[in-house]
Amino acid sequence: MSQSPSLHVAIVMDGNGRWAARRGRPRTAGHRAGAEAVRRVVEAAPGLGIGGLTLFAFSADNWSRPPAEVAALMRLFARYLRSETARLREHGVRLELVGRRDRLPAPLVTAIAAAEHATAAGGALHLRLAVDYSARAAIRAGRILPDVDLLIRTGGEQRLSDFLLWECAYAELYFTDTMWPDFGAADVAAAVAEFHSRERRFGGLPDAAAG
Ligand code: FPP
Repeated sequence: MSQSPSLHVAIVMDGNGRWAARRGRPRTAGHRAGAEAVRRVVEAAPGLGIGGLTLFAFSADNWSRPPAEVAALMRLFARYLRSETARLREHGVRLELVGRRDRLPAPLVTAIAAAEHATAAGGALHLRLAVDYSARAAIRAGRILPDVDLLIRTGGEQRLSDFLLWECAYAELYFTDTMWPDFGAADVAAAVAEFHSRERRFGGLPDAAAG
């Protein structure tokens, strides 16, 4: 199997709330379990030929959630950044936040800047966390990321929800019913294997017909 040296994979991490509800636990417990899944997937990514990984952590539309859930998510992001930075460095991960920063709580903005600075030299994986991100707003402002090769959405929904609309023009789409907190290295490997089994034509003809 030929493997591109540097796939850009983007993930809509959906299903935290339902994962928690099925266990009779609060939604925030699902988000905490979701942070564990983030660690598993980030650490598996370089070994799967993934050079860029963009995770949809909080959309510009997520501000409409109950304030307590929003506050818990913001604290969780800040805690993740503080507690994971050393580990990210060890794994050669460069972390970058994409999205608006001006509406985020000050401690989170500080944690983002510190994590970005500490991991700036990472060369194994470019991890982008999309927080307060809207693809439509990014397009209007000309803030375009590299093309996405593979877009994964967990949690059974099959839509893009204002995530990387421009960059996904030719992305292969992979939807799974697995809830994000249950997602792990084997799941991302299965998605990448499925990606490699597809023929990408970019509007051209299949290889066999082109010759
Ligand atoms: C979608 O599930 C998930 C979110 C809106 C938040 C994503 C956050 C995490 C995965 C937590 C950890 C992230 C980092 C970067 C540390 P949902 O709440 O919409 O679930 P539901 O559709 O089942 O209600």
